[in-house]
Amino acid sequence: MQASDLMRIELTVNGRREAGHAEPRMLLSDFIRHTLGLTGTHVGCEHGVCGACTVMVDGAPMRSCLIFAVQAAGAEIITVEGLATDAALSPLQEAFREHHGLQCGFCTPGFLISALDLIGRKPDLDEQAVREGLSGHLCRCTGYEGIVAAVLAAAKRMQAQNADQQAAQETA
Ligand code: FES
Ligand code: FES
Repeated sequence: MQASDLMRIELTVNGRREAGHAEPRMLLSDFIRHTLGLTGTHVGCEHGVCGACTVMVDGAPMRSCLIFAVQAAGAEIITVEGLATDAALSPLQEAFREHHGLQCGFCTPGFLISALDLIGRKPDLDEQAVREGLSGHLCRCTGYEGIVAAVLAAAKRMQAQNADQQAAQETA
């Protein structure tokens, strides 16, 4: 591989402009982890089965092991590092902590990204919808009970927060 085969990629990750070089065949998951140093995104199967590598790409959850980094040039990416704000866990992360939605944590970044998308699309989730919505993610530790409970709790909390914000805006 010659330096001339490397392509410069610019994209936005967690609200920050980032740039780096990648071979045309480099996976987005490797670019995120090795070039940008954001190792919160995990790589399990590396062929689209486990969901551990899921990140948000232009507002939709995608398996970053199934996309080449060059295909994400110009995209807006959100990784698990982008969920917490001001050193505080996001409501979804907090719910995972409270409901024991993780053990080893390997699958957790992918679950969090997909759960965030699911809650955004279907705020009034029930257990069946959570199980179906996250069925593309594998966890070898928890048996899923804690994960489902955490997502249901987070959906409720986030709905209440949104309602409070709306009420505050209406009275402002
Ligand atoms: Fe991408 Fe398993 S590492 S789906
Ligand atoms: Fe260990 Fe899911 S918490 S794989």
